[in-house]
Amino acid sequence: MADAILQVRTPATSANLGAGFDTLGMALSLYNIFTVTEILPEGEFRAAVIGEGARELTDAKDNMVIRSYIEACDTWNIKGAGFELLSNNVIPLCRGLGSSASAAVAGVLIANGLNRVNASDDEMLRVITRIEKHPDNVAPCYLGGMTVSCLDGESLRYVRLPSLPPDMYVVVAVPNVEVRTSMAREALPDTVDFKDAVFNLGRSALMAAAWATGRWELLSWGMDDRIHQQYRAKLFPGGDVIMDRVRDIPGCLGAAISGSGPSVLALVKGRPRKVAETMCRTFTEYGVESLFFVLQGNADGAKVTYPGQFLKKSG
Ligand code: HSE
Repeated sequence: MADAILQVRTPATSANLGAGFDTLGMALSLYNIFTVTEILPEGEFRAAVIGEGARELTDAKDNMVIRSYIEACDTWNIKGAGFELLSNNVIPLCRGLGSSASAAVAGVLIANGLNRVNASDDEMLRVITRIEKHPDNVAPCYLGGMTVSCLDGESLRYVRLPSLPPDMYVVVAVPNVEVRTSMAREALPDTVDFKDAVFNLGRSALMAAAWATGRWELLSWGMDDRIHQQYRAKLFPGGDVIMDRVRDIPGCLGAAISGSGPSVLALVKGRPRKVAETMCRTFTEYGVESLFFVLQGNADGAKVTYPGQFLKKSG
């Protein structure tokens, strides 16, 4: 591999966590790594991709990391250099695990790092959220841990909560079915019933409070939802059965569709094997191949390295 001039590591994320639609999200211990291997003249870019998207994402002008870099440079009025980018993609695409947020965060971090902008976290998140409109993926990807975020037009307010404790696992089953976020949003109704809105308000507030205070036994309530998952579960085979099955397994504290799906996630205290097997067996019963990851929460968010040593983000 060519020498690294700058390297960014971005975590996968799971948005919504059930009740917290468009608001809650957590960072996971699964990473894409983006390496700037050569500086090129302004406006010139080359891209190589290993792993997820290796066939689709090699055209530099369609590469989301590069597009985000250009947009960040424009926002900051910088004539940024071009570069050659090597993406090592592990986060599955179009599976509700924040692959677009990962690319947007990386592009803005590269713009910040190569051009020595030294933007604050607030400014970084403002720019990234303008590019990738889902703060419930962007904020945990950038900051790590679990985040509560609210976007109003271009104004963003967020709070970062700690990551999961080390004895808790995040089991993620990833079916071999792509669901684009736009399609998963079109599946939602235009209005929600008042009682269902109240249900979700209470559950998502409980979820944030339980997470902040380590009351993990409340997650099964906090991850319950009545406004989006029942519609989205119909977009992939087995979706409506899988969560019911894993919720009953001892140690499973809560389960949800990850982001806009189709991956399904369960938070597990203790041995995660039975949950993982049940998820994949259920997808198999419905004729869908799947793979699973047994992950932990990520506490650090995105990291920038200049050869030698990891440095924290912008600072
Ligand atoms: N909160 C968004 C949704 C996440 O569920 O549509 C998109 O990744």
